[in-house]
Amino acid sequence: MKLGVVVLAAGQGKRMRSRLPKVLHPLAGRPLLAHALDTAQALGAARICVVYGHGGDLVPRRMADYDCVWVEQAEQQGTGHAVRQAMPSLQDMDRILVLYGDVPLMQPATLQRLVDTAATTELGVLTAVFEEPTGYGRIVRDETGRVLRIVEQRDATQAEQRIDEINTGFLVADRARLDNWLARIDNRNAQGEYYLTDILALAVGDGVEIATSRPRTRDEVCGVNDRVQLATLERIFQRRQAEDLMRNGVTLADPARLDIRGRLHAGEDVSLDVNLVIEGNVRLAAGVSIGPNCLLRDCEIGPGTQIFANSVIEGAVVGADARIGPFARLRPEAVLADAVHVGNFVELKKSQVGEGSKVNHLTYVGDARIGRDVNVGAGTITCNYDGVNKHPTVIGDRAFIGSNASLVAPVEIGEEATVGAGSVISHKAPDGKLSLTRARQTTVEHWHRPRKKPKAS
Ligand code: UD1
Ligand code: CA
Repeated sequence: MKLGVVVLAAGQGKRMRSRLPKVLHPLAGRPLLAHALDTAQALGAARICVVYGHGGDLVPRRMADYDCVWVEQAEQQGTGHAVRQAMPSLQDMDRILVLYGDVPLMQPATLQRLVDTAATTELGVLTAVFEEPTGYGRIVRDETGRVLRIVEQRDATQAEQRIDEINTGFLVADRARLDNWLARIDNRNAQGEYYLTDILALAVGDGVEIATSRPRTRDEVCGVNDRVQLATLERIFQRRQAEDLMRNGVTLADPARLDIRGRLHAGEDVSLDVNLVIEGNVRLAAGVSIGPNCLLRDCEIGPGTQIFANSVIEGAVVGADARIGPFARLRPEAVLADAVHVGNFVELKKSQVGEGSKVNHLTYVGDARIGRDVNVGAGTITCNYDGVNKHPTVIGDRAFIGSNASLVAPVEIGEEATVGAGSVISHKAPDGKLSLTRARQTTVEHWHRPRKKPKAS
């Protein structure tokens, strides 16, 4: 059975009040549409066809990483019209499943159940019972419970408006039957649109039994129409991720104060304090602990490493049993070996730091290669930029850099070399020796502090 998926994503989303097409607004850091496409992929769809419209080709361009067919619906003439645009690209499919680009929390398992329920018939619809059904299409059944049709809110009679079973919009149909039904719908209704929902009455007329199934939770079928709903769904999504983490052995100080905008892989006994933001792809090995108010983007942290409060780590790799922060900043291509200590107000960029080395206070290290067991004193700066080009600094094993040194790159500090505090080093500091560039201290014997002149009376 070849399953083709149609994702409806042409609508403008007026209530977003945005220049960005609605389906490109991010939920957990990724476009709403990406969530729908992931769901379609998880179902093993043989082909995914996205109907886009509002915003022109910005939507397909932004989503270029996804393997799908893009069909433009230049004028939005209704959901039935939208699905019709996709059908020519799906002629070799057996079944068609219709999804919505602005409904991001739908679970693959729910759609799989819909597909399975409808396996013995030619049309299946996902319905739900809402206490407050206003605005939705209603499922009209006969006395025996058989589905007869869907009536839209604006076309419904008073009696029909009291029906609390609603159309979620998700449906699955036999491909050939769907072609036939879509060719027969018209736009003679309150909105002058081609309603996809009108295929139900046509199916019943053709003697087709309509299967229905329900989602496990209401969130799954909630769409985003404005930014308030977007924020509500964001919280639900974040809560789901937090609970998955806790079930997999991660301790969260507060599951409501963790935001994952991307993917977090966390080992056993990882512990996360409040207000952590994860972006991109982050890997935390077993036993990692992260203090409050940290941002981690696209990085990898080794087992047992502790990250203290207010640290920002981006594009870096940290080994095992390291200590980072508080207030540390690791920038792209910072690669730290095991047991490295990086302290407060330290910035590291495109640099390697060897095992056991310490960079503990108020330091900038850029384009450097630091060996093992090196001590970089407070206030050290690698002067890596001459205003035009970047240059490297190399520091040998067990070197000791005194406080407030400027290392003017390109420059090399030898193994076990010592650099005196306050030095400006622009030539190689030899192995095992003390190098310093400090002026000698002198004391001026007969100097007096100036005194205030007596006031003229
Ligand atoms: C639709 C259903 C309604 C259901 C509700 C669930 C129809 C006629 N009605 O109503 O029964 O209860 O969804 O939310 O199907 N779209 C296009 N092209 C179009 C029109 C819509 O791509 O020409 C897309 C929209 O971007 C949106 C989705 O289809 O993602 C639903 O369209 P919308 O206008 O919101 O339908 P509703 O009136 O809410
Ligand atoms: Ca809607």
